[in-house]
Amino acid sequence: ADPDSLQDFCVADLNASISINGFPCIPASKVSASDFFFDLSKEGVTNTSNLNSRVTPANVLTFPAVNTLGISMNRVDFGPGGLNPPHSHPRATEMGLVIKGRILVGFVTTSNVYYSKVLTPGEIFVIPRGLVHFQKNVGKGKGTVFTSFNSHKPGVVILSTTIFGSQPPMPNEVLTQAFQVDDAIVNSIKSKFGS
Ligand code: GLV
Ligand code: MN
Repeated sequence: ADPDSLQDFCVADLNASISINGFPCIPASKVSASDFFFDLSKEGVTNTSNLNSRVTPANVLTFPAVNTLGISMNRVDFGPGGLNPPHSHPRATEMGLVIKGRILVGFVTTSNVYYSKVLTPGEIFVIPRGLVHFQKNVGKGKGTVFTSFNSHKPGVVILSTTIFGSQPPMPNEVLTQAFQVDDAIVNSIKSKFGS
């Protein structure tokens, strides 16, 4: 989904003082082999959140070599029952490969149709750009999924934190009307998402 590059590579200068669409390149003379490799071998720590999952990103912010190349990856680790909660990527279609676990993958279309399947290692999935999706490890052991994106920075909108955890917060009069619940319920959910 990203624009085509006009050169072989453009390793991002993440600290550049100018701001463009993407990042400026570091000088080619400063680029070395190690720029083009990134280690996703380490299992993310999953037990520090209620979600029992952890996303380790390899996008332009962590792996500057993908700047302007229109591609990136994540590693997603799950404890038993772990959830990568409903979210969407405004700038990318996602494809994922299950490495470990039994992973319930679901997404909802703009016509509000829900598609889902439980995947086992070796199986892949695709999430069309912008659609809300999740993965949950429904297996008894750990789970691991590698995902890839056709953007160097797909962006992520996590529904729960976007709606109930923005700073400053969305007004309760909006949320009570939108979700057809009272203030107490909105306040309770907000308190869980730091808003
Ligand atoms: C999974 O949905 C991911 O965004 O890595
Ligand atoms: Mn995703």
